[in-house]
Amino acid sequence: MPDADPPPFFEAHIFVCCNRRPDGHPRGSCAAQGSEKLRDYMKVRAKEMGLQRVRVNQAGCLDRCEFGPTMVIYPEGVWYRPTTPAEVDEILEIHVRDGGRVQRLMLTERDVVEKAPKAKA
Ligand code: FES
Repeated sequence: MPDADPPPFFEAHIFVCCNRRPDGHPRGSCAAQGSEKLRDYMKVRAKEMGLQRVRVNQAGCLDRCEFGPTMVIYPEGVWYRPTTPAEVDEILEIHVRDGGRVQRLMLTERDVVEKAPKAKA
Protein backbone atom coordinates (compact mmCIF):
# COMPACT_ATOMS: atom_id res chain seq x y z
CA MET A 1 0.00 0.00 0.00
CA PRO A 2 1.56 3.33 -1.05
CA ASP A 3 1.84 6.25 1.33
CA ALA A 4 -1.05 8.72 1.22
CA ASP A 5 -0.94 11.23 -1.61
CA PRO A 6 -0.03 14.79 -0.69
CA PRO A 7 -3.00 17.18 -0.62
CA PRO A 8 -3.92 18.83 -3.93
CA PHE A 9 -1.78 21.87 -4.67
CA PHE A 10 -4.75 23.75 -6.16
CA GLU A 11 -8.29 23.74 -4.87
CA ALA A 12 -9.50 23.94 -8.45
CA HIS A 13 -7.37 23.27 -11.50
CA ILE A 14 -9.14 24.21 -14.70
CA PHE A 15 -7.93 23.06 -18.09
CA VAL A 16 -9.31 24.92 -21.10
CA CYS A 17 -8.79 23.27 -24.47
CA CYS A 18 -7.22 25.73 -26.90
CA ASN A 19 -6.39 23.27 -29.63
CA ARG A 20 -6.81 24.64 -33.13
CA ARG A 21 -7.30 22.56 -36.24
CA PRO A 22 -7.49 23.73 -39.84
CA ASP A 23 -10.87 25.01 -41.01
CA GLY A 24 -13.04 22.22 -42.34
CA HIS A 25 -11.54 19.50 -40.15
CA PRO A 26 -14.27 16.94 -39.44
CA ARG A 27 -13.80 17.10 -35.67
CA GLY A 28 -13.59 20.86 -35.47
CA SER A 29 -11.60 22.38 -32.64
CA CYS A 30 -12.17 24.38 -29.50
CA ALA A 31 -10.03 27.34 -30.57
CA ALA A 32 -12.11 27.65 -33.73
CA GLN A 33 -15.10 27.97 -31.41
CA GLY A 34 -13.66 30.75 -29.33
CA SER A 35 -11.94 28.92 -26.48
CA GLU A 36 -8.86 31.17 -26.40
CA LYS A 37 -10.94 34.25 -25.58
CA LEU A 38 -12.86 32.29 -22.96
CA ARG A 39 -9.59 31.11 -21.37
CA ASP A 40 -8.24 34.66 -21.26
CA TYR A 41 -11.49 35.91 -19.77
CA MET A 42 -11.57 33.14 -17.19
CA LYS A 43 -8.02 33.86 -16.02
CA VAL A 44 -8.79 37.54 -15.54
CA ARG A 45 -12.12 36.91 -13.81
CA ALA A 46 -10.69 34.30 -11.43
CA LYS A 47 -8.13 36.89 -10.33
CA GLU A 48 -10.70 39.68 -10.07
CA MET A 49 -12.90 37.45 -7.93
CA GLY A 50 -9.98 36.81 -5.61
CA LEU A 51 -10.27 33.04 -5.94
CA GLN A 52 -7.44 31.47 -3.99
CA ARG A 53 -5.55 28.36 -5.09
CA VAL A 54 -7.38 28.30 -8.42
CA ARG A 55 -5.41 27.83 -11.61
CA VAL A 56 -6.68 28.24 -15.16
CA ASN A 57 -4.43 26.54 -17.70
CA GLN A 58 -4.49 26.23 -21.44
CA ALA A 59 -4.69 22.62 -22.59
CA GLY A 60 -4.18 20.82 -25.84
CA CYS A 61 -6.92 18.65 -27.29
CA LEU A 62 -8.97 16.98 -24.54
CA ASP A 63 -10.53 14.58 -27.07
CA ARG A 64 -14.11 15.81 -26.78
CA CYS A 65 -13.74 18.19 -29.71
CA GLU A 66 -17.26 17.73 -31.07
CA PHE A 67 -18.64 19.27 -27.87
CA GLY A 68 -16.32 22.24 -27.68
CA PRO A 69 -15.32 24.60 -26.49
CA THR A 70 -14.46 22.25 -23.64
CA MET A 71 -12.93 22.66 -20.20
CA VAL A 72 -12.50 20.32 -17.27
CA ILE A 73 -12.18 21.14 -13.59
CA TYR A 74 -10.11 18.98 -11.23
CA PRO A 75 -10.08 17.42 -8.75
CA GLU A 76 -13.76 16.75 -9.51
CA GLY A 77 -13.22 15.95 -13.18
CA VAL A 78 -16.35 17.87 -14.16
CA TRP A 79 -16.52 19.02 -17.80
CA TYR A 80 -18.17 22.16 -19.15
CA ARG A 81 -18.82 23.69 -22.54
CA PRO A 82 -19.28 27.42 -22.03
CA THR A 83 -19.65 29.61 -25.10
CA THR A 84 -19.90 33.10 -23.58
CA PRO A 85 -18.13 35.12 -20.88
CA ALA A 86 -21.38 35.15 -18.90
CA GLU A 87 -21.32 31.36 -18.84
CA VAL A 88 -17.70 31.41 -17.68
CA ASP A 89 -18.81 33.70 -14.84
CA GLU A 90 -21.50 31.20 -13.89
CA ILE A 91 -18.97 28.37 -13.74
CA LEU A 92 -16.55 30.41 -11.64
CA GLU A 93 -19.23 31.62 -9.27
CA ILE A 94 -21.38 28.53 -8.89
CA HIS A 95 -18.89 25.68 -9.30
CA VAL A 96 -15.48 27.04 -8.30
CA ARG A 97 -16.45 29.58 -5.64
CA ASP A 98 -19.62 28.02 -4.21
CA GLY A 99 -19.03 24.31 -4.85
CA GLY A 100 -22.24 23.88 -6.87
CA ARG A 101 -22.78 22.73 -10.43
CA VAL A 102 -24.00 24.43 -13.60
CA GLN A 103 -25.91 21.46 -14.92
CA ARG A 104 -27.02 22.92 -18.24
CA LEU A 105 -23.41 23.61 -19.31
CA MET A 106 -21.97 20.28 -18.21
CA LEU A 107 -20.80 17.49 -20.47
CA THR A 108 -21.89 14.09 -19.26
CA GLU A 109 -21.05 10.46 -19.96
CA ARG A 110 -23.68 10.61 -22.72
CA ASP A 111 -21.70 13.21 -24.63
CA VAL A 112 -19.56 10.86 -26.68
CA VAL A 113 -18.96 10.37 -30.36
CA GLU A 114 -18.79 6.84 -31.65
CA LYS A 115 -15.43 6.36 -33.29
CA ALA A 116 -15.08 4.14 -36.29
CA PRO A 117 -13.21 0.91 -35.53
CA LYS A 118 -9.62 0.88 -36.71
CA ALA A 119 -8.99 -1.10 -39.88
CA LYS A 120 -7.07 -4.34 -39.42
CA ALA A 121 -3.52 -4.34 -40.77
S1 FES B 1 -10.05 20.38 -29.92
FE1 FES B 1 -10.79 20.77 -27.90
S2 FES B 1 -11.23 18.81 -27.14
FE2 FES B 1 -10.28 18.44 -29.05
